[in-house]
Amino acid sequence: MRHLIHLMNLNQDEFFSLLKRGVEFKKNRLLNPNALKNKSIALLFEKASTRTRISFSIAIQELGGHYLVLHANELQLGRGETIEDTTNVLSRYLDGIMIRTDSQKKLEIMANLNVIPVINGLSDLFHPCQALADYMTLYDMGMDLSKLELAFIGEPNNVFNSLVLGSIFTQTKISIAAPEGFDIHPRVKEILKKFNKEVRIYKDPKEAVKNADVIYTDVWVSMGQEKEADIRKKIFQPYSVNLELLKYAPKHVIVMHCLPAHRGEEITNEVMDKFSSVIFQQAENRLHVQKAILEWIYYLI
Ligand code: CP
Ligand code: NVA
Repeated sequence: MRHLIHLMNLNQDEFFSLLKRGVEFKKNRLLNPNALKNKSIALLFEKASTRTRISFSIAIQELGGHYLVLHANELQLGRGETIEDTTNVLSRYLDGIMIRTDSQKKLEIMANLNVIPVINGLSDLFHPCQALADYMTLYDMGMDLSKLELAFIGEPNNVFNSLVLGSIFTQTKISIAAPEGFDIHPRVKEILKKFNKEVRIYKDPKEAVKNADVIYTDVWVSMGQEKEADIRKKIFQPYSVNLELLKYAPKHVIVMHCLPAHRGEEITNEVMDKFSSVIFQQAENRLHVQKAILEWIYYLI
């Protein structure tokens, strides 16, 4: 049984197959309209979502399957039924679960039961579907991923972690500028060490973007961190991706964002609008690459 709980569930060939298949789906959305015939997949949310919810819903529909959107607080899960019991029960009705959760551990408990395929639609630690869509976006733009340098400006969070894991396959150079005290998660460091993958770490965003082909940023306050919003907004103020910062990057640099953007915080209006064609491609490509992920989950590729 296959699960996508983080990008290390894929091997190098599978990773690139997903990007290529995503591009094929982009050219023809209805390429495989019966792939999920008679399959029902739950989209289970413990947190808000626009892109993940809608792109998975439409992807499943266009592959001929059925989807069911569930909110954790409306299930018995929210009233203390265990994740193990919930997963076992759901496995009797459904063919797959995509879950957005505040706990990677919970996701791993579900996947380790091995009773139903589980896809990570964002956890506190990883966002594999986003990173796949992002690398697909760069690949689809004709870029040689192995020759790129990507500078991530902000917290080394779930999105950063998945971009970095993806770079183990793509050989993309990664740098990050983050404030003191915002270190790369120990689990990610361990994976980086295992694969001998170097990440250049800076405090100063100007240094980090010096050789960047791609600047990537994400919100300063992730879902679940709302209580720290005021302090985070102060700490991350120098990490805003604005026109001034772009002056320190090569002229050809592009800016990416997983969205939702908080315009005026991690990215200014001007930068967001200048690079909106790339950024909205990233959002669109979630739909295409997730079809490829679903095919992979069911051994169709
Ligand atoms: N990028 C992303 O996952 O967006 P949503 O939170 O809207 O799903
Ligand atoms: N880091 C953000 C990503 C949203 C898609 C969050 O976890 O809220």
